[in-house]
Amino acid sequence: MNRHLLSAGDLSREDALKILDTAEQMATVGDREVKKLPTLRGRTVVNLFYEDSTRTRTSFEVAAKRLSADVINFSAKGSSVSKGESLKDTALTLHAMGADAVVIRHAASGAPHRLTQWLDAVVVNAGDGTHEHPTQALLDAFTMRQRLGRDLDGAKVAIVGDILHSRVARSNVQLLHTLGAHVTLVAPPTLLPRDMQTWPAQVSYDLDAALGDVDVCMMLRVQAERMTASYFPTVREYSRRYGLDGRRLALMPKEAIVMHPGPMVRGMEIAGEVADSSRATIVEQVRNGVSVRMAVLYLLLTQDSTGQGTA
Ligand code: NCD
Repeated sequence: MNRHLLSAGDLSREDALKILDTAEQMATVGDREVKKLPTLRGRTVVNLFYEDSTRTRTSFEVAAKRLSADVINFSAKGSSVSKGESLKDTALTLHAMGADAVVIRHAASGAPHRLTQWLDAVVVNAGDGTHEHPTQALLDAFTMRQRLGRDLDGAKVAIVGDILHSRVARSNVQLLHTLGAHVTLVAPPTLLPRDMQTWPAQVSYDLDAALGDVDVCMMLRVQAERMTASYFPTVREYSRRYGLDGRRLALMPKEAIVMHPGPMVRGMEIAGEVADSSRATIVEQVRNGVSVRMAVLYLLLTQDSTGQGTA
C-alpha cells in the first residue's frame, strides 16, 4: 500500500479489500463496552481542516481515539491561518510538533499532495476541493458490501447529481471500478465534467430510465458553494428532473439501496420520505465511516517504508 492515502486511484484491488476487511474487524470494537484498542498509543494524529465539516472531522477524531492515538484538532478558523499563514508554514509547525499522521481537508485540489512534500508524516486526504475524498468512497463501498451482502463485482451503481463539483463522485468512480462494479453517472449535461470520456463510467441524462436497473442509487448534493455560474434553471426544475422522491424510489428494484454522503438538502436532491425510508443507508454510512477510518489509520501507521504491515 502507498505510504499516504491521497486518491482512491492509488489503491489496488488488494489494498482496497484489505482496508474493507480490516474495517469489518474494527467495527466489532464499536460494539464493545470499552470501545478502544491500544494499537496507536503514543502516536499523534492531526486533523487539519480548512473547510467546514461535520461528519468527516468527527469521524476521523473518533477513529483515531478508538485506536488510542493522541488527536489534535486544528481548524483554520481560530488558528494563524486566519492571520495569513501559508499551508507550508502550518505544515512545518506540525512537523516540528512530531505529527505521525495528518488528515487534511482543503478547498484546493492537490493540497494533500503538496503536504507530503513538506512533512514526513502519513497524509490522509479528507477531501480536497473538487478532486478526491477517498475515505468516503471506502466507507461507501463498505456500506454497499454490507447491505447487498456480497462483494461488488458486477454491482450496478448510479451516482446522481452534481458530478462536476463532487470529490465524492470522483473517488467513488475509481474505487468502484477497481472493485469491479459498473457505474452510471446521471446528471444534467452542465453538471458533468468535460473529461467524462476518460472516466470508467457510463453517462445518462434520464434518471427514471437509469433507476430500473440498479443495485445502488447514490445521490449527491448540489455544491452551490463551488459554483461560479448558473448550472440549472431553478431548484424546482432540478428537483423535478434529478431529485429522488417516493415515485422514483418505486422504480428501483426492491432490494436496491439509496445512499447519500451528507450533508443532504431534503426536498432538493432527495425527498424527506426517501431519506428516512428503510432503503436509505445514510446513518449506516456515518457509522461505517468510523470503522473504515480506523482501518486506514491503522494500516498506514503500522506499515514500514516498503508498504508491509509491521503490527
Ligand atoms: C461531502 C464532501 O464534503 O465532499 N460530504 C462528506 O464528506 N460527507 C459531500 C458534500 O459536501 O456534499
